[in-house]
Amino acid sequence: MATRIRTFEEYRAEYERSVKDPEGFWAEQAETFVWRKKWDKVLEWDQFEGPKVDWFKNGKLNISENCLDRHLETRGDKPAIIWEPNEPNEEAVTLTYKQLHAKVCEFANVLEAKGVKKGDRVCLYMPMIPELAIACLACARIGAVHSVVFAGFSSTALADRINDAQAKVVVTSDGNFRGAKNIAVKAVVDQAVANCDCVDTVIVSQRTGIDIEMVDGRDFWWHEEVSKVSDKHEAVEVDSEDMLFILYTSGSTGTPKGVVHTTGGYMVYTDYTFRNAFQYEENDVYWCTADIGWITGHSYIIYGPLLAGATSLMFEGVPTYPDAGRFWEVCEKHKVNIFYTAPTAIRALMAYGTEFVEKYDLSSIKALGSVGEPINEEAWEWYHKNIGAGKCPIVDTYWQTETAGFLIAPLAGITKEKPAHATLPMPGIQLAIMDNEGNEIEGNDVEGNLCIKFPWPSILRTTYGDHERCKNTYFSTYPNKYFTGDGCRRDEDGYYRITGRVDDVINVSGHRMGTAEVENAINEHPNVVESAVVGFPHEIKGQGIYAYVICDAKPENEEAFRAEVLKIITKEIGPIAKPDKIQVVSGLPKTRSGKIMRRILRKVAEGDATNMGDTSTLLDPSIVDEIIEGALVPVKQ
Ligand code: WTA
Repeated sequence: MATRIRTFEEYRAEYERSVKDPEGFWAEQAETFVWRKKWDKVLEWDQFEGPKVDWFKNGKLNISENCLDRHLETRGDKPAIIWEPNEPNEEAVTLTYKQLHAKVCEFANVLEAKGVKKGDRVCLYMPMIPELAIACLACARIGAVHSVVFAGFSSTALADRINDAQAKVVVTSDGNFRGAKNIAVKAVVDQAVANCDCVDTVIVSQRTGIDIEMVDGRDFWWHEEVSKVSDKHEAVEVDSEDMLFILYTSGSTGTPKGVVHTTGGYMVYTDYTFRNAFQYEENDVYWCTADIGWITGHSYIIYGPLLAGATSLMFEGVPTYPDAGRFWEVCEKHKVNIFYTAPTAIRALMAYGTEFVEKYDLSSIKALGSVGEPINEEAWEWYHKNIGAGKCPIVDTYWQTETAGFLIAPLAGITKEKPAHATLPMPGIQLAIMDNEGNEIEGNDVEGNLCIKFPWPSILRTTYGDHERCKNTYFSTYPNKYFTGDGCRRDEDGYYRITGRVDDVINVSGHRMGTAEVENAINEHPNVVESAVVGFPHEIKGQGIYAYVICDAKPENEEAFRAEVLKIITKEIGPIAKPDKIQVVSGLPKTRSGKIMRRILRKVAEGDATNMGDTSTLLDPSIVDEIIEGALVPVKQ
C-alpha cells in the first residue's frame, strides 16, 4: 500500500512539495496503481481556460481493475463491502474482494450483452443495496459512464437527467425499504422512461418483492440476467481522461448540471485523500452513511475505500429506524473504526438525547468524519464527546461534487482541530481567498470568496453537453481560478472556516438545492405568478427553504394552496425540495431594474428585520413592510 502522512511536519513537507512540484508529487502517488500504459505527461492544462485539464495524459487503465483485481492476491478474502440492511434483524451481507469482483464481472457481462459499449451512459436509480455499487463498478469495468440519480428524486427529475445524458440503459430495483416505508422505485422509472426515447433497456434488481410491471423486451430481472453469464470479465482499457461518471447537481440556474469526472486523476485523488484524511489502516472497518446518489457516496463509499483496499460499510436504512440508536447499534455490531456522517444527522440525533448512544459500545471508533455543510460548534462538541468519547479526531471534510475529493480537511489525529473549522488544505490544493473586486486577499484573519488557483487531479472536467456552462459557472467570476461558490474565513492561525454559499444555492440537510429550481417548480402551479425562494437557518437541517409566492388570485384557503404547491414540488423534483414555509405576498422587493433583492427576503426569513440596509432603491419599498407583517416567523424589527 502507498505510504501515508504520519506527522504534522510530514503534512507540511508534503503540502510544500505538492505546490512546488505538483507533477512530481502526483506522479509518485499514481505509481501505486495498475496502468496498462503509463502516462506521457502528468499534467497538461490551459490556464483554466474552459477548463482544459489533462491528468496523466495518454495513460491507459481501468479503475475497476484498480479497485478489485489489484487486491485479489493480497486481500481476496477480506471484506470489501459490508451491507447492513434496513431491518436490524435481516442478516447483513459481506462481500469479500473476490466475491465483489465476481459480481462486478457478471454484471459487466450483462451490460455488454445488452449492447452497452465504452462511452455509453447508464443511469442508476437505486436504493442503497450492494447492486448499486456493483453496477457502478461494472460500468467502469466496461468503460461505460454511470449517472447515478438519487432514488428520492421524482420521475420528472429522473427523466430530465436520463434525457440530458442520453442514457440507453437504466438500472433500478423493484422497491426500497427505507425506515418504516416500502417505496415503489420501479414505478418511478416506468413513469420517467415513458418520456425518454433514448432508453431501450431497464434492468431491475429484486429487493422488496413488490408487484411491478415488466415491459416485455425492455425490462429484465438482474438475477435472471446474471445467471446467464460468466463471472469472468477482462476489464476494458480506457484513457486516463475518459469519462468515468456524470453526477447531476444543483447550481444557480433552474436546471441541474451534469458534473463530469474522468478516470485517472479521480482515481489517484480519491484514494490519496481517503487514506490520509482518515488515516486509514489495513484492517479498519470504515462506514460512510451518505447515499451513493451523492458525490460522497461515489468517492468515499465506493472508489476511495476500494482503491485503498478498505472494508466499506453500506447502510440501506435511516438513522432513526427502528429508533435513534441505529447508527450506534451498527457501529457496535460491525466494530466500526472510522465513522463518517453529516452534521444534519448529528443534529437530528442530538435531539433524541444520549440514552440512545449510551446503550452501545462505541470503543472501536477511532476517527469521526463530517461532510456536507458547515458543522456548528454545538454539534461538533456533542459528536466529539458522545460518539468520539472525547478523544477521537473529527475530520471535517470540506469539498464539492465538482471537486470529487476533499479540498480542506484535518488529517485525523495529525492536524490540530478547531471545532467548526475544516482547518487546512489537502496537499495539492492551492487556495485563494478573493475580494469582490477580484483581488486575492493575503494574510490571516481575513474573509472572502474561496477559489482554487491550480488544478488538482479530480477537478471537474466539464458539465455534460455544455462546456460553456462549466466555464461560466466556475471559471469566469475570477479569471483563471476555480470559484467554489462558498464564502470562507482564514483565521489568525491560518485555519479555514467555510461560512456557506455566497450564490443562489441552499444546503438543506447537506443536499444542494438551487433556488431557481425550486422556484420553477412552484411556478408550475396555475395560480402562481412569481415566486422567490431563499434559505434560512434551520436547527436540524442547517438551512430550511422559505418561499415567497405571488398569486394570481388570493387563495381562498391558504393551507390547501400550500399543500398543492408541495405536491407539485414533490412531482417536479422530489420531497427533499419541499419548502418549510410558503408565504403568499402581493409583491416582491424589486429594484427598478426588476432584480429581486434577496437579501431582504433572507433577513425576513431569518426573523431579523433590524438591519435591512438601503431599501430606497426599491421600486415599491412598502412591500417590505407587508412582507414583514405577513411573515411566517416572528420578525425582530
Ligand atoms: C457545502 C458535498 C462546510 C459547501 C461533498 C459546498 C461544506 C457544498 C462542507 C457542496 C464542510 C460541504 N463544511 N461546508 N465540511 N462540506 N459543504 O456538491 O457549501 O453536495 O459548496 O458536495 O456543500 O455540496 P455537494
